[in-house]
Amino acid sequence: MAMARRPINPSQRVSGVGGGAGPYSKSHLSKSRSSPLSIALVVGAAFLVIFYFYRGSGGLGIKGAVNRVEGDFSCTFEVERAIPFLKQAYGDSMHKVLHVGPDTCSVVSTLLREEETEAWGVEPYDIEDADHNCKSLVRKGLVRVADIKFPLPYRAKSFSLVLVSDALEYLSPKYLNKTLPELARVSADGLIIFTGYPQHHKIKAVDKFKVGRSAKLRSAAWWFRYFVQLSLEENEAAVKKFDQAAAKGSYNPSCQIFHLKSYQ
Ligand SMILES: *[C@@H]1O[C@H](CO)[C@@H](O)[C@H](O)[C@H]1NC(C)=O
Repeated sequence: MAMARRPINPSQRVSGVGGGAGPYSKSHLSKSRSSPLSIALVVGAAFLVIFYFYRGSGGLGIKGAVNRVEGDFSCTFEVERAIPFLKQAYGDSMHKVLHVGPDTCSVVSTLLREEETEAWGVEPYDIEDADHNCKSLVRKGLVRVADIKFPLPYRAKSFSLVLVSDALEYLSPKYLNKTLPELARVSADGLIIFTGYPQHHKIKAVDKFKVGRSAKLRSAAWWFRYFVQLSLEENEAAVKKFDQAAAKGSYNPSCQIFHLKSYQ
């Protein structure tokens, strides 16, 4: 059902930009009516302008994102490793969980194996190569493909917890400004962000995958400044419980994990 939806509709982008370039090329055409060669040049130039605007506007971003993310599910993998510790930190709040990120079918399947946990997923990229299990999750409506630059198709506080991994690093601050509050909006008891360490912290093996990719890995200081701007507060009680559980289980995450409160 939601399978056919594509994160971005390229035809919309083209027509939007083309409309903007229309008056520009028309005025040039009227001046150079006598010369077919200059008309051809202007038309060619207009196409170049449209092409660059289209690229610049992120119209081709999805294809790029899909390529970048392939084989690069490090923090999504980390979500699965963290589940036992999240359960200890959040207790009853692990009942209704939304995961947002690539390979969400795998996270949702793992969560569904937990007792008394309902789980849903939002896959921000195409899943044309989805396996049988993933297709079945999409058919059941548990996993949706949706562009997280746009409002999420859920009511406020639909989920107790929202987990996000490997998805925010591909958004510019402008889009983060929309997407982060959206993720907080659909959560009732917390938003947990899994994100890679910046490259100069490249001690961890998983970060090798990130070298040469255009994911923007930001420092904890950067993220905290951003959370303050968006009035998102750290959930200190959850941080404490999670860190205690992780220490007890000798769990040493390879990604940064931020525990935020939902909006009140
Ligand atoms: C994001 O939102 C904050 C707070 O509303 C604002 O101060 C900041 O300029 C915005 N950043 C961008 C890139 O839009």
